[in-house]
Amino acid sequence: MEENKKKITTASGNPVPFYQDSMTAGPRGPILLQDFFLHEKLAHFNRERIPERIVHAKGSGAYGTFTVTHDISQYTKAKFLNQIGKETRVFLRFSTVGGERGSADSERDPRGFALKFYTEDGNYDLVGNNTPVFFIKDPRKFPDFIHTQKRDPYTNCKSATMMWDFWSLNPESLHQVTILMSDRGTPYGFRHMHGYGSHTFSMINANNEKVFVKFHFRTQQGIKNLTGAEADQMRAQDMDYAQRDLYTSIENKDFPKWKLFIQVMTDEQTKTFKWNPFDLTKVWSQKEYPLIEVGVLELNENPDNYFAHVEQAAFAPAHVVDGISFSPDKMLQGRILSYPDAHRYRLGANFEQIPVNRCPFMVNNYQRDGYMRVDGNGGSNPNYFPNSFDDSREAHEYAEPALHLDSTIADHYDRNANDDDHYTQPGDLYRLLDEEQKNHLIGNIVGAMSGIEGPKRDEIVMRQLCHWFRADMNLGMGVAKGLGFSMDKLSEYMPK
Ligand code: HEM
Repeated sequence: MEENKKKITTASGNPVPFYQDSMTAGPRGPILLQDFFLHEKLAHFNRERIPERIVHAKGSGAYGTFTVTHDISQYTKAKFLNQIGKETRVFLRFSTVGGERGSADSERDPRGFALKFYTEDGNYDLVGNNTPVFFIKDPRKFPDFIHTQKRDPYTNCKSATMMWDFWSLNPESLHQVTILMSDRGTPYGFRHMHGYGSHTFSMINANNEKVFVKFHFRTQQGIKNLTGAEADQMRAQDMDYAQRDLYTSIENKDFPKWKLFIQVMTDEQTKTFKWNPFDLTKVWSQKEYPLIEVGVLELNENPDNYFAHVEQAAFAPAHVVDGISFSPDKMLQGRILSYPDAHRYRLGANFEQIPVNRCPFMVNNYQRDGYMRVDGNGGSNPNYFPNSFDDSREAHEYAEPALHLDSTIADHYDRNANDDDHYTQPGDLYRLLDEEQKNHLIGNIVGAMSGIEGPKRDEIVMRQLCHWFRADMNLGMGVAKGLGFSMDKLSEYMPK
């Protein structure tokens, strides 16, 4: 019956007699200034958009469960990992990197793999990608790098020239660019790709002993990628393919799963590792540092509202829990400060109170006030510490073991020759591919580099070609041939 239906109200709860008609003087208008409901609707509508993420703007998310299947207490005292069978609720947001919120899911781009574990010791965020390495190894390069992935300031178009100019001048990008140009650069949705913490992190056990670790989430759906041509077709056919695929599979109770593994390196081993073990452009060989199984991640719940959960989700590498910590990886160190700063800008100072971000267990501190404080603001409790009134304390048992440093501070250090080996690992990766994958990689590189234009074209192309040659002679030859260059021309640019 009509009278049993819920009444529509203004935002302050006053029932609205006519929702679709403005209040007018006479049937033809004009509209009265006192039509507050019209004003409220239009004004709220004008404020619906919040800043999109500066990177990873297009994404999809789901809730799920992480279940421990193997005992790794010899490495970590993290409570959510301390018992086989233990389950922790998680929220995972997948994303592309360079495109805007409305961009296509099938772009050639790394994919974000950002996980929030709601643990009893606070939220733990593992903000990774679907690749084990990254384009740069110093956070000071990040804004410049990202500018080259966004639109040209003059043409407002994406620019292959900017991208390859930057990559060719920063050969540390070669490993990630090789992965990006392979079929893994265009995964078939989000369910058929691995996830990586990428950085080197640390784990601390109950005896306060520290090891360094890398995280690997291996898809249980099997790796499946689109070829470059299929990705182009998918972009035209369904811009939101990955969102639709994830949502539909969860809706159909075909819950996607990933197994979590870690690689472990002791402090001693970090000193003898062939490369800097904290260099984000390098992987650790799985033969030398084998995968150790930890648990299984399952996504099993679609959020009931995209904006509330997915758009307002805020992940931060700063959010670690007892038993898991950082490493000297410079990129990780840069990210620790950058993310919560982005969240304050994008969502406001009280972003941690938004339900998707809120720790479901205890939060107890003396931060107060600020825009949109909606959690009671500490009520009548003291807003300072120490005080004589509440029974709060510092949790000294959570202190990390001291990290010994014997170093100097400088703006710049001369690098070891080994630090500039940007070629061995991309070359190894190329040599691991089968013939078809090699052809796809070369075809994709040629296709992407063909977009380089303007007066610096030859210089950029040649510089990048030298990098491909250094990684692997056949890879270099394949790309050079595909771009129509002769050996004579190449030799002018080859390092003497
Ligand atoms: C998002 C900065 C490197 C993965 C973001 C955001 C910023 C940022 C500001 C937007 C955050 C937000 O508005 O919520 C940086 C900086 C980096 C860096 C300064 C290097 C110094 C990386 C690396 C990875 C990564 C190496 C992966 C290993 C992600 C992911 C997101 C993201 C997955 C999206 C998180 C979400 O779904 O909300 N990054 N980033 N970033 N970044 Fe990074």
